[in-house]
Amino acid sequence: MKGSSVKEAAIWLRKGEVVAIPTETVYGLAANAYNVTAVQKIYAVKNRPLSNPLIVHAINTEQVKSLVSDFSSEAELLAKSFWPGPLTMILPKSAVIPDIVTAGQQTVAVRVPSHPLTLELLSILEFPLAAPSANKFNYISPVTAEAVSEMLGNEVPYILDGGRCQRGIESTIVSVEKGQINILRQGAITGEQIESVLQQPIIEQHSSVHLHPGMFKKHYSPRTPLILMDRNSDFSALGSQKNVAAICFSRNFPSISVDKKIMLSNSGDLEEAAQHLYAVLYELDKENYDLIIAEKMPDKGLGKAINERLIKAAVHAQ
Ligand code: TXA
Ligand code: MG
Repeated sequence: MKGSSVKEAAIWLRKGEVVAIPTETVYGLAANAYNVTAVQKIYAVKNRPLSNPLIVHAINTEQVKSLVSDFSSEAELLAKSFWPGPLTMILPKSAVIPDIVTAGQQTVAVRVPSHPLTLELLSILEFPLAAPSANKFNYISPVTAEAVSEMLGNEVPYILDGGRCQRGIESTIVSVEKGQINILRQGAITGEQIESVLQQPIIEQHSSVHLHPGMFKKHYSPRTPLILMDRNSDFSALGSQKNVAAICFSRNFPSISVDKKIMLSNSGDLEEAAQHLYAVLYELDKENYDLIIAEKMPDKGLGKAINERLIKAAVHAQ
């Protein structure tokens, strides 16, 4: 069932069920983070390997502090600057977090989301919410309640409908260790933003090259084969392809003829492109093209986060 009742969502969550929740990034598939049986249901519904840990969503920084065993001065500064918002921190976990949430690791991923309905929900619950994105493992993350309903509708008792996710792309994940900040996953907060708050350089790991535990090469993928093109790509190889769709950013692939072209942002705005990315991939995937070609974004700001997803979407199971 889909609706906008926070009370109804709370009833299911208190019973140990999973509920889809809106966040400012993408929809999450939530359960009581303290309840092992409830968290097991998340993995089952998603077909997610138990080796891939979950993010715990809290109402505020104070609650986050009860979930971790150390909250450094850098974590404090990042929390003040970006929470509620799309930044996830990897911190040493406290004993209240069950192993299933962290896949047995001694660290836990935490964030305070900024969607009003989910904040209201967290404020009435007695527990924080473990929640990965509300898609099947490796598929495109949903940014509307309708997409969640199509993907998981039969498997979750309630979808809390908070409209379309504003950012459209997942949170940025950073590890905070001994004063050093590493970006493990590019996302809605840019490396530039983090550097300007901390006034220190950060390390940006390209997760498609360096894979952190639980981070997979293939991810965010439509079922339709997808290839990534940049300005210098040779389009002649595409000549014989039938039924092709193109996702464009700054140009219109004028040299190739395709059946459908979608501009992610007419004004070349990366924020707008990020907002549209998953919704466009999802819609195109439903239309059964033989191939989707996507233009690589400029490698700066949110372009990095979009590219990271397009690169993973372009890896197909062999
Ligand atoms: O915006 C978001 O982050 C969304 C919304 C729902 O909050 N959530 C999301 O969760 O994208 P998920 O599960 O799709 O991605 C979480 C990532 C996974 O790649 C997982 O491996 C990583 O976080 N992760 C979780 N705990 C970790 C840990 N202790 N150490 C390293 N990586 C961790
Ligand atoms: Mg995900």
